[in-house]
Amino acid sequence: MVVPMIAGAASVSATERFRQRFASLHPAHFRQLQDLWVSSLGLGTYLGDADDTTDALYADAIAQALARGCNVIDTAINYRCQRSERVIGRTLGKLIAGGAIAREEIVLCTKGGYLPFDGAVPEDPARYIVDTFINPALAAYDDLVGGCHCLAPAYLDASLQTSLCNLQVDTIDVYYLHNPEQQREEIGHEMFCRRLEAAFMLLERRASEGMIRYYGIATWHGLRSNPKSKSYLSLEDIVGMAQRIGGSNHHCRVIQLPYNLAMPEAYSFANQTVRGELMTPLAAAHSLGLAAVASASLLQQQLATLPATLAARIPNLSTSAQRAIQFVRSTPGLTTALIGMKRAAHVEENLALAQQPLLSPEHLAGIFDRSQRR
Ligand SMILES: NC(=O)c1ccc[n+]([C@@H]2O[C@H](COP(=O)([O-])OP(=O)(O)OC[C@H]3O[C@@H](n4cnc5c(N)ncnc54)[C@H](OP(=O)(O)O)[C@@H]3O)[C@@H](O)[C@H]2O)c1
Repeated sequence: MVVPMIAGAASVSATERFRQRFASLHPAHFRQLQDLWVSSLGLGTYLGDADDTTDALYADAIAQALARGCNVIDTAINYRCQRSERVIGRTLGKLIAGGAIAREEIVLCTKGGYLPFDGAVPEDPARYIVDTFINPALAAYDDLVGGCHCLAPAYLDASLQTSLCNLQVDTIDVYYLHNPEQQREEIGHEMFCRRLEAAFMLLERRASEGMIRYYGIATWHGLRSNPKSKSYLSLEDIVGMAQRIGGSNHHCRVIQLPYNLAMPEAYSFANQTVRGELMTPLAAAHSLGLAAVASASLLQQQLATLPATLAARIPNLSTSAQRAIQFVRSTPGLTTALIGMKRAAHVEENLALAQQPLLSPEHLAGIFDRSQRR
């Protein structure tokens, strides 16, 4: 069966309309990701088994999140063997066809870089990779890092086309290169830059053709590490590369990095240099015109239970998960806190924060102030 693709992309006017529809929420809930209005809380789809039961949970959670004022959905082609992209596509298709939401109101984000399985882990993964990616000349053995990661343009282009099909859309709003630092760790800086440049050339071309609205990098270690580390990524170099390829109107406009109570580097570790000045990743992103999105806001659920002393520092909320997410969404310079949510009850609990004011910068700083600890 040929599935019709949903035309359009997130738009300024439709995301503004979405914001107006949720005018009863706290005004700080909506922020700007470049020219788009986005929610301070986004739904992530990384965790969970690759099965029908989990698909059904995600379908319900996505509908609940959109109905409660969350318009950012984050995924990656490899998540749950492409099942996360596919359940997002099916769910949005139904909601849009039923008039519950418009395509242009949603900021749909996915990633390419990891070789994805197709619905389930195959019996012989190595054979599958050879048959699916190497033999059709999408990637050469030398392009692969860790046996699973590839930035080769032919592979990325095929991956992008598959993501569009899985999501059933003509345009992806934010397309991230997924953990590109994994390549730098293994192949060294110079070859990494050549590969990144080839990938950016492809993404600029696809953006100018309307398949991608913005692109960027979604990282794990890359933006949190020491500049001397093998996995370190310089935001100034990355934006410089995009500018050389796409000019001042380049489309490299979003970064994603882990940020939570246990991983505060984005806000606290001055590891980036922009125009000679040392600054944190969030300050550097701001200075370079990049929007910053936080992943793993709950450290993959580990922060859903906080020590009492820490919980007491984020008052007036009901649960530890809310407190941990409140820390992330209140951090200046962060656009959206992504939270993996496949349970509707978690969506309800977390989206209740959309009614709350943010913690002040002074309050945030005080959370880590040792002098205040008992
Ligand atoms: N390098 C990268 O690009 C990268 C890396 C990691 C994550 N990400 C993105 O960021 C998103 C968020 O990160 P994540 O999913 O890894 O981890 P996370 O958001 O830190 O935690 C998700 C886990 O917390 C649970 N949870 C959510 N709300 C809860 C609540 N109120 N109380 C108790 N438990 C709760 C979820 O359960 P249920 O699912 O059962 O509701 C899930 O098990 C990902 O889904 C992905 O989109 C990107």
